[in-house]
Amino acid sequence: MFNDTEKLRNLDWLGSVWRITTVNPAISSFELGIKEPHPAPFPEELAYRLISLFSKRGDMVLDPFCGSGTTNVIALGLGRETIGYDIEQKFIDIARNRCKGKGKFFCKSSEEMKELQNESVDLCITSPPYLRAVKYSDNPLNIGNLPESYSLLIKTFKEVYRVLQKNGIFCLNVASVAEKGFLNTFPFDLLYKCLEIGFKLRSSVIWDKGLLIKEWNLQHSEIAENHEYIWVLKK
Ligand SMILES: C[S@@+](CC[C@H](N)C(=O)[O-])C[C@H]1O[C@@H](n2cnc3c(N)ncnc32)[C@H](O)[C@@H]1O
Repeated sequence: MFNDTEKLRNLDWLGSVWRITTVNPAISSFELGIKEPHPAPFPEELAYRLISLFSKRGDMVLDPFCGSGTTNVIALGLGRETIGYDIEQKFIDIARNRCKGKGKFFCKSSEEMKELQNESVDLCITSPPYLRAVKYSDNPLNIGNLPESYSLLIKTFKEVYRVLQKNGIFCLNVASVAEKGFLNTFPFDLLYKCLEIGFKLRSSVIWDKGLLIKEWNLQHSEIAENHEYIWVLKK
């Protein structure tokens, strides 16, 4: 008998560049029957691969910025337990709905996850707000609205470190954001912050979101960056 990971041996997703089409929030909201979609969900396929690779049945999977609950619904489908945090009630409602009453959800900032005991989580997968790139709400406490978000993100990552089992895995999905015509170093800044906390870099994945050429790129002969990073960190 093969276990979940052995079944993956022949699949190209054991390579480190994953071509996965990005999610159109309008289409996902139509499928889920939701009027106001989450503006930045990640694809179910991404969560599926990471959960299959880095956890086993019965494990606890956490997403501290769970949004519409993509990590959580896939974790449940793969026979894992799951917990999600988001600061917006409207997103927690979507996540709970998608998970049909299963899993645990907390509508609060993940900077303090008092509900979780030390070393009680096997795998954490998350995608935080990319600075102020996306408007999630008018809530001044939403990280996506803060002029300076690094200190809060670091608090959450420290909490992730505390609640992860020894050798537990933290998959951090993050992309660069264009600012005044240049790309910032946000993904690399967060990677270094995580290393300072004590995580070790085990591997990284380039999530290739497919070709997206804009008129501006053609006119300026500029590369259209359309990939994100997944830092696979180990406690
Ligand atoms: C990139 S989205 C996550 C999307 C999610 N992966 C999905 O598939 O729907 C980031 C989320 O972080 C939430 N957020 C912002 N500040 C937060 C905080 N302090 N604590 C918890 N969640 C927060 C936002 O409301 C948003 O839903």
